[in-house]
Amino acid sequence: MRVAVLRGGSSLEHVVSLRSAARVEDALRELEHEPIGIDVGRDLVQRLRSECPDVVFIALHGPGGEDGTVQELLEILDLPYTGPGVAACALCMDKIAAKHEMRAAELPTPDWAAFNATAFRELGAADTLEEIEERLGFPLVIKPASQGSSLGVEFASSRDAVPEALVAAFSYDDRVLLERYVKGKELAVSVLADQALPVVEAIPREEDFFNFEARYEIGRTEYVCPADLADEDTHLVQELAARTYETLGCTGFARVDLILGDDGPQVLEVNAIPGLTDTSLFPMAAEAAGIDFAQLVARILATPQTRPANEATLPA
Ligand SMILES: Nc1ncnc2c1ncn2[C@@H]1O[C@H](COP(=O)(O)OP(=O)(O)O)[C@@H](O)[C@H]1O
Ligand SMILES: [Mg+2]
Repeated sequence: MRVAVLRGGSSLEHVVSLRSAARVEDALRELEHEPIGIDVGRDLVQRLRSECPDVVFIALHGPGGEDGTVQELLEILDLPYTGPGVAACALCMDKIAAKHEMRAAELPTPDWAAFNATAFRELGAADTLEEIEERLGFPLVIKPASQGSSLGVEFASSRDAVPEALVAAFSYDDRVLLERYVKGKELAVSVLADQALPVVEAIPREEDFFNFEARYEIGRTEYVCPADLADEDTHLVQELAARTYETLGCTGFARVDLILGDDGPQVLEVNAIPGLTDTSLFPMAAEAAGIDFAQLVARILATPQTRPANEATLPA
């Protein structure tokens, strides 16, 4: 097959995307497909029209590539593509909307409050901070509604630290959430075609504990897969991850981030297009399940998304 691999993009995770794409292209060659690397930009539609690929592998992360934008274009062009569809991508990229869906489905996610910049500027939202702080307690986690790789995720240990953390989060997105801090094991559960893979645990260095961005630097966090958990906890988090994936409408593959605290697991977010680099968690989980990277790419390619059938027809 001729497989277009979409890479780069304008999000802050551009470099991660290039690394994911390079690895996917190597795997495609190993599988005897023909990869066509496409750096996404203004000529994306033209490139896709002239290349006429059989399928499109989306190796983009963050807003633009992972939020349904590119997926929508591919549906307009009637090109099958990998990973979740438009609606699931849009939902997963929006942590606030995703948390509302989770809560409605009774999936555990940390309590939160959300704002947009307009509420702050024009409606006096800052005056509610006291109530929020009282309800959620300290430490408080403050993060932009979109983004990934811990960008803009801040931690406030007291009331004094909240304004600065909010400003930092607002520099990434005009909507932010304040979330209850959950103490526990940080886990990632990759789901491949509805099947939860072995659990990965992230163990940060002590000094990085509250510096979520620093943890992403290579070597600063240790990853263990399969995570050292009791069997019942493993099943519990895998089952929760699979239900969350389904609730948010994911298909193909995705990765669910959660924290296993004393009161059970809490889902933080779902990544619709998780990293596929040689240090990424999704390939690590697949490897632990006996699926090497080329097989993983083959599995992802096996069930591409296609444009949904036209509007439902009304009964006669
Ligand atoms: N409510 C929380 N309690 C404790 N740690 C959190 C919480 N929210 C986020 N974190 C930490 O920040 C990291 C990134 O947060 P996450 O919600 O997964 O956003 P991102 O899209 O940036 O990955 C998590 O992996 C975790 O280490
Ligand atoms: Mg995350």
